[in-house]
Amino acid sequence: MSDRIVYLNGEWLPETEAKVSIFDRAFLFGDAIYEVTAVVNGKLLDYPGHTARLNRSLNEIGIKAPVSDDELLEIHREIVRKNEITDGLIYLQISRGAADRDFTFKSDLKPTITLFTQVKDAVNNPQAETGISVITVPDQRWRRCDIKTVQLLYPSLAKMEAKSRGADDAWLILDGMVTEASSATAHIIDANGKLITRQLTTEILPGITRASILDIAKEAGVDFEERAFSPEEAKNAAEAFITSATAFVTPVVKIDDTVIGEGKPGPVSKKLRELYIKSRIELSI
Ligand code: PDD
Repeated sequence: MSDRIVYLNGEWLPETEAKVSIFDRAFLFGDAIYEVTAVVNGKLLDYPGHTARLNRSLNEIGIKAPVSDDELLEIHREIVRKNEITDGLIYLQISRGAADRDFTFKSDLKPTITLFTQVKDAVNNPQAETGISVITVPDQRWRRCDIKTVQLLYPSLAKMEAKSRGADDAWLILDGMVTEASSATAHIIDANGKLITRQLTTEILPGITRASILDIAKEAGVDFEERAFSPEEAKNAAEAFITSATAFVTPVVKIDDTVIGEGKPGPVSKKLRELYIKSRIELSI
């Protein structure tokens, strides 16, 4: 905690003064959608993708956006200014609103919208140099992982399990195949330098960084295929990496007890990370 200025339902408040009802459905039912957008040099990375996915998630669970797209962009810019954020992230959450506890809900609830910032130098993250280690665990999340809800207990427990086993993160396994990482998209590079990433279904979040990486791969002449891969295939891959708004492209150098490639970030992951950072900073708004 610090002395940030946060946004709550149209008001700018010191973080200690921003209060939400104990009856808010985010608190009682995990009934809320969120987005995380990176800020580099004071500007928003991949912002159009994040708003588009926000609107899609809201639509999927029937919450009406409490602000317009233009207002939301202005709020993002204002929170960066108010908190003098150069490098960090913006967390945005929209819940269905507050009502007495009832599984069913009325359609006229007033959504609760909150935004706060966190400082983080994602560009100079030392993990990009060393790579990270992951464990594999069963994917025990609900089956609408394409919607970015705040129901994050399982990913949180999976990350704790990874930590307790000396690893940095967890990759989730469903029906013998990798779905994604606990809070990022999972990718591998095969022996021919081809990028393999799972196709978009309800089983994974449509990562905004994933979409950018596929665009970048196309431009850079990196061949790619969208299909599921098993943990065994990943362990035998030339390279592995994760992507997210906070990790950008972060190499994975160990999966369970298997060292990937030479145990250090490989050339394709490094190149994609470089191109991602350069091109997205150029396009940032
Ligand atoms: N997580 N898959 C899951 C399950 C995620 O939670 C995330 C992002 C991603 C990557 O999506 P994107 O490239 O749009 O960030 C994939 C965010 C960063 C979080 O929960 O903090």
